[in-house]
Amino acid sequence: MRIVDVINKKKHGESLSKAEIDFFIEGYTKGEIPDYQASALLMAIYFKGMEAQEIADLTDAMVRSGDQVDLSRIEGIKVDKHSTGGVGDKISLIVIPLVASVGVPVAKMSGRGLGHTGGTIDKLEAIEGFKVELSNEDFINNVNQYKMAIVGQSGNLTPADKKLYALRDVTGTIDSIPLIASSIMSKKIAAGTDAIVLDVKVGSGAFMKSLDDARELAKTMVAIGNSLNRKTVAVITNMDQPLGHEVGNANEIQEAIEVLSGHGAEDETEVALTIASYMAVLGGAFKNIEQARKHFEALIASGEAIEILKKFVQIQGGNPEVISNPELLPKASKHIEVKADLEGYVAGFDAEKIGISAMMLGAGRRKKEDAIDFAAGITLKKKIGEHVNLGDVLCVLHTNADDTTEAERMARTAFVVSNHHPGEVKYIYEIIE
Ligand code: URA
Repeated sequence: MRIVDVINKKKHGESLSKAEIDFFIEGYTKGEIPDYQASALLMAIYFKGMEAQEIADLTDAMVRSGDQVDLSRIEGIKVDKHSTGGVGDKISLIVIPLVASVGVPVAKMSGRGLGHTGGTIDKLEAIEGFKVELSNEDFINNVNQYKMAIVGQSGNLTPADKKLYALRDVTGTIDSIPLIASSIMSKKIAAGTDAIVLDVKVGSGAFMKSLDDARELAKTMVAIGNSLNRKTVAVITNMDQPLGHEVGNANEIQEAIEVLSGHGAEDETEVALTIASYMAVLGGAFKNIEQARKHFEALIASGEAIEILKKFVQIQGGNPEVISNPELLPKASKHIEVKADLEGYVAGFDAEKIGISAMMLGAGRRKKEDAIDFAAGITLKKKIGEHVNLGDVLCVLHTNADDTTEAERMARTAFVVSNHHPGEVKYIYEIIE
């Protein structure tokens, strides 16, 4: 078989066979197919798409490209969640302690930030001592004993995805439904969980910009999960503006603490409670979503939820004092106010620009090997629907960087100010079961 023939076939919109997909994934993982040919095939897939069978075969080939975690020693229905990527998305930090508290084992495999989107693993590393690399043994023991553990995409898990994701990031091929679906589902399946709740983000800060595309992505992933006997639910959520008010790493930890203490922003509280409730129901702890939600609301109100977060931090080697005293989190040396030069309502956001601005301030990586500045980030002072007067502070940039001109420009132009009130904002659009 020759890879150039596979590229030509997809270029002409034909379906690829399982053997051709295996040939590509095996060859690329081993380094026998070079980046330039893999890029050409990715671009052909981007433009011509894939049939359901091809996406299932691609997912399966990526799962088989590396190790698969055996979680059978963990009792109960193991649940995980995965977001398709957003700005200010700290939902995992909130749902892990909630779901674990009802006895459902949360075996969470998370990623680092990429492009304009943040990653849970980077955020947790803002907590002094927090270990995101656990041996398989420690991971399994922690889930068994405490019902919660988190690890990065470590070792030899879906190496094909690791290579392809980095290549997609620099070849304009991230926002493709077959490529996102196979990337996410291969990781979740290789990680060995029984049930998966997917947070499919749609809007200006997401890879899917339209509800139709988000729905198609959600349906594709749910179908893959169900065909492989994983109970899978997708929640389609709004990413037309960052979630909550904080975008970065340390400041997002602080905001997750606020949600679990009962003082969180409405949008992220709603999304977190919905996702936690679906995870708890899939894990068998409640009969329905309403019961689960009521329980979690009470847990937050009683102050128990924050104690479980503290425990989670401690189990993973982090300093639990940070949870009672977020002042211990890294702090930036500079705080720059970005002010409104127009009067009106915040009618929308280019949330991707907020993500890019945060990255420029040090909160993300321009290149894979860049170090993160945990203290860097952005605090939004205005969100969609709020009124702004001339000179009002729209957001505050936190940084240790010397030159912030471009980051300031990006953040300012991310806000769309209009004379018209944009109407009510929906946080959750649809649930695909
Ligand atoms: N998250 C992933 O893990 N993969 C993608 O392709 C997009 C978001």
